[in-house]
Amino acid sequence: MELAILGGAPVRKVPFPPWPVYGEEEERSLREVLESGSWGGYNGKVEELESAFAELHQVRHAISCANGTVALEATLRALGIGCGDEVIVPPFTFIATATSVLLCHAAPMFADIDAATLNLSPAAVETAITPRTKAIIAVHFGGLPADVDALRRIAERHKLALIEDAAHAHGARWRGVPVGNFGSAGTFSFQAFKLATSGEGGIIVTNDSDLAARLWSYCNQGRRKGAGWYEHFTLGSNYRLTGFQAAILCAQLRKLPEQSRIRKENVHYFRRHLRAIPGLTMPEDDPRADRQPYYLVTLRYDPSQFDGISRDLFLRALQAEGIPAQRTYPYPLYRNPVFSRPPCRCGAWKAPQDYTSLFLPESEKVCRDGIWLEHSLFLGAQKDVEDILAACEKIQRHASALVRLEQREETIQQSDALGSR
Ligand SMILES: Cc1ncc(COP(=O)(O)O)c(C=O)c1O
Repeated sequence: MELAILGGAPVRKVPFPPWPVYGEEEERSLREVLESGSWGGYNGKVEELESAFAELHQVRHAISCANGTVALEATLRALGIGCGDEVIVPPFTFIATATSVLLCHAAPMFADIDAATLNLSPAAVETAITPRTKAIIAVHFGGLPADVDALRRIAERHKLALIEDAAHAHGARWRGVPVGNFGSAGTFSFQAFKLATSGEGGIIVTNDSDLAARLWSYCNQGRRKGAGWYEHFTLGSNYRLTGFQAAILCAQLRKLPEQSRIRKENVHYFRRHLRAIPGLTMPEDDPRADRQPYYLVTLRYDPSQFDGISRDLFLRALQAEGIPAQRTYPYPLYRNPVFSRPPCRCGAWKAPQDYTSLFLPESEKVCRDGIWLEHSLFLGAQKDVEDILAACEKIQRHASALVRLEQREETIQQSDALGSR
């Protein structure tokens, strides 16, 4: 059968399961807030959400906030991190992991990831520590917990705060313990594609009661729980989640365990059968990460097994077959111009690394050869997974036809470039 990109019939003609998933429960919960007349961040649903989230992650405190970015920023501020400080972050993550550090006028210090897990490499963290280092932000990338045993040991030895950026990892566990329990605090996002969503939103979890009080105060205009509405004790802002968002999230959280179970089954099936397609691999599960919600499946693409066609052409062919796969981040975070500008005019700010000449090989590599399959592709029937596999196999079988397409496109590009001189 001819490849769909060349005019053939696609492997997959029907859409994958939609995201977000909602039903009567969300509608009922939203109506309760609507009819309560209390729509803001002090609606009882917010506390209900915080209790449910704290219970799911077996932590003492959960403080909701506007999104995962301010969750990180508030945590750094509440830990006293500011001008002149350095915070170690991975470069293969969403921009907020590093810009939250800049927002506090501290400097992000990029350390490379581990090739097998795509999470912060503990060895790279060790070498990035300087006398200015105050914290490490470990991202549980794609829902796979980072090696928190090793990172915690490093943090303790150097007296650094460990923050878990768990924006991808709702409900994930490491050796049976939920993420968010391994450092000073864990932060989560409820943005539109996240595993529990209210369109936007965030939450911070911690077992440290003093830190929890500072976080709550920072997100609530410097107020103190129990004190007056117009009494402000410290500098804070309004980072509250609304009652409507909390209403949706309470319902979403109840769906999470069953959705995670379905994704796990489908991802495991996918991994087993992917082994028959040379040139496409995915990270093995770490047995210590005994619960994974599978937010993102990152495949590694080896062009030599596909007659040398580029990853981007492979992706276009896959999309034409009806599989909505995407490339990973275009480049590691440090290439973004935002990092080459000081975040403030204060003389104490000092870039810890020459960001423009930084080259962290594992992060560079996965930006070049990585492919993402989103969690919703694994939320349906086994047949969906079989279609993804069938599309990959089909492209491999017909890769030579794509070599000719790539050559034609290169010739056109070259003559366009000559014509525009
Ligand atoms: C790893 C990571 N951290 C933080 C965030 C920021 O979350 P938000 O978009 O809710 O601000 C995201 C968002 O995608 C993320 O992927």
